Amino acid sequence: MPRKILLDCDPGHDDAVALLLAHGSPEIELLAVTTVAGNQTLEKVTRNALAVARVGGITGVPFAAGCTRPLLRTARVASDIHGESGLDGPVLPDPDPALDVPLDPRHAVDVIVDTVMAHPPGTVTLVPTGPLTNVAVAARKEPRIVERVAEVVLMGGAYARGNRTAVSEFNIGCDPEAAQIVFREPWPVTMVGLDLTHQALATPEAVARIVELDTAPARFVADLLEFFAGTYRTLQGFAAPPVHDPCAVALVIDPEVLTTRRAPLDVELHGELTTGMTVADLRGPEPADCHTRVAVTLDHARFWNLVVDALDRLGDP
Ligand code: BDR
Ligand code: CA
Repeated sequence: MPRKILLDCDPGHDDAVALLLAHGSPEIELLAVTTVAGNQTLEKVTRNALAVARVGGITGVPFAAGCTRPLLRTARVASDIHGESGLDGPVLPDPDPALDVPLDPRHAVDVIVDTVMAHPPGTVTLVPTGPLTNVAVAARKEPRIVERVAEVVLMGGAYARGNRTAVSEFNIGCDPEAAQIVFREPWPVTMVGLDLTHQALATPEAVARIVELDTAPARFVADLLEFFAGTYRTLQGFAAPPVHDPCAVALVIDPEVLTTRRAPLDVELHGELTTGMTVADLRGPEPADCHTRVAVTLDHARFWNLVVDALDRLGDP
């Protein structure tokens, strides 16, 4: 049985790869895609999500736009990493109502609530790969979703170093109050943070396998990764760019692709130097009854096999 997921994202180069990975994997049933302001404005990331749907031939899935800004903080985009469009690098298809997936008229928060409530308990997994604003608001709007979702597998946070600041990761740092809501609700949460995603490097060998596929979606991803490589090299000194968001989707596809460890998690909201930091309590033995866990070690080869195989399956839609 494929696992049903809802992808809440802010495309974003790695969000785009996450979306194509989900769509191209038979282990996943993509129920809905929701967007949230993060890497760029809501308008831009929503446009990008529809562009990725066009490139990947995704149809019959609701796409809905969500929150335009964090709960309390001022919105700050990541144009340094993702460019002015949020998806700089490839030529994006021009928006075309005749060809694009029609945007669902509902707010993303309602799509999250409706989707979870419409399926049997324990069957829908939420996969947020942007700031957690939509998911937090959904949990407040309809608290019954908290006991109903199978789990939340999110890309965000870090138990060691950050990227937005020394200790804060971008998605969590954008909306730390929303992140705190998500971590404190009693649903199972897996934090696929920078500790893990900095192992998901798009090495020249991985990129060469994608280029070899020579299909439109594969060329699109290769162009995304080329741009991403440039910004990560210049701004953060990476020899190859870390492709964060597909790691969360990969864990849903294949639980063996990475290892996790249970650990209490919370978000710092008031630190002079540490606001937006995810604080993981890694002391002592792993607590058996803890509802949160962190991702630790990635099987790099297995991860890229999942991405390449998914792109291969998409062919030339
Ligand atoms: C996260 O921040 C965004 O720029 C990426 O899309 C990813 O979700 C990594 O810190
Ligand atoms: Ca993202």
